[in-house]
Amino acid sequence: MPGAFILGIESSCDETAAAVVRSGEQVISNVVASQFATHQPYGGVVPELASREHLRAIVPVVRQALAEAHHTYNSVDAIAVTQGPGLAGALLVGISYAKALAFALDKPLIAVNHIEGHIHAVLLDLAKNDLSQNQERQKAHPELQFPVLALVVSGGHTHLYLAARQDSSWTYENIGHTRDDAAGEAFDKVAKLLGLGYPGGPVIDRLAPHGDAKAIKFPPAQIKHRDRRGRNDGKAVAPDRQEAGHPRFDFSYSGIKTAILRYVETHDMRAAVEARRLALLNIAKPKLEDYLAHCDQPTLDLVASFQRAIVDDLVGKTLAAARACDVATLFVTGGVAANSELRQTFEREGAKQGLPVHFPSRPLSTDNAAMIAAAAYPKFLLKDFAAMDFSAEAGLQLR
Ligand code: KG4
Ligand code: ZN
Repeated sequence: MPGAFILGIESSCDETAAAVVRSGEQVISNVVASQFATHQPYGGVVPELASREHLRAIVPVVRQALAEAHHTYNSVDAIAVTQGPGLAGALLVGISYAKALAFALDKPLIAVNHIEGHIHAVLLDLAKNDLSQNQERQKAHPELQFPVLALVVSGGHTHLYLAARQDSSWTYENIGHTRDDAAGEAFDKVAKLLGLGYPGGPVIDRLAPHGDAKAIKFPPAQIKHRDRRGRNDGKAVAPDRQEAGHPRFDFSYSGIKTAILRYVETHDMRAAVEARRLALLNIAKPKLEDYLAHCDQPTLDLVASFQRAIVDDLVGKTLAAARACDVATLFVTGGVAANSELRQTFEREGAKQGLPVHFPSRPLSTDNAAMIAAAAYPKFLLKDFAAMDFSAEAGLQLR
């Protein structure tokens, strides 16, 4: 079977993952060891525990990814690893192991930006669709129309990038980011303050259809102040316009979280929240029925209205950016891209604008290593290899 086989390793947050991907587009194996159970009692990721769990899992997870792909350490062509952004201690576990493997095996080592990984996850599923439709591999997605607008929406990020490709090289321009909380972070914080546990996104996704999304109206996020963090690469620019002339499309989700907190307080929901939190804590793996049994209708309405507000904001701003920048294709990726209402709304509204919208499959939307191996492939072709002394960059930017 010809092609380049890249072993990808991902350890930036609370998942230890390894995968083998052929030529940036065919997933041969994809193993993800989740740390949910470790962090669940704390209601969020505890960085020290994350590093320890990565140390425990990294060797067996890589071994399993190679075994499932019918590969050996020696038969892969390169080793790719997440450099950042993420938790420094967690990143270091993957990087140290990838370096050791590359050194011992004398293989090229490729450092990958986690956000670029999320964008390339979309290409893995495009390739799968091509295969099923044409029964023939498409090389480097010649059918893909540029420019691409990519919304990367996860627990740590809410970013809009304009992506272009020249030969096999990709470039990115950030035209929007969150000024405060990421969308996934808002899902997680709201779930926590409603006593629904961690992580919040998947639970809210499943509960929302049982509530009335029109019950509570949240005002749209107002972004009045200048972006004090400057542009995504740290250069100071005008608040609503950057050098290339593209307007900015920033997000803000801390206001809605505060609005929900206030709603819980003014509607005397605190005692019910605490009772729900304790009840769910005593169930090892709560099912939808367990959540429903512990949620009254006002809580379900609150959940549904919250999700609708976030989805409308994400879709509205992203499609406005797509129109303003006259893009040909839209990618929506990252953990929150697994959300059913977000997918349906993007598909419906994208179709109205005649804009093709692509998502990764749900398992490839959340953190995984196949996306890291996929993003490494253009770098493999360009021989853009990492030096052995590169290190983790917790705040790594994409450009
Ligand atoms: O991409 P990801 O696995 O990790 C980061 O890079 O942050 O995203 C995790 C985030 C969490 O905030 C989680 O609550 C959210 O994605 N998430 C969801 C869904 N599945 C995961 N949010 C909404 N609906 C979902 N179905
Ligand atoms: Zn991620």
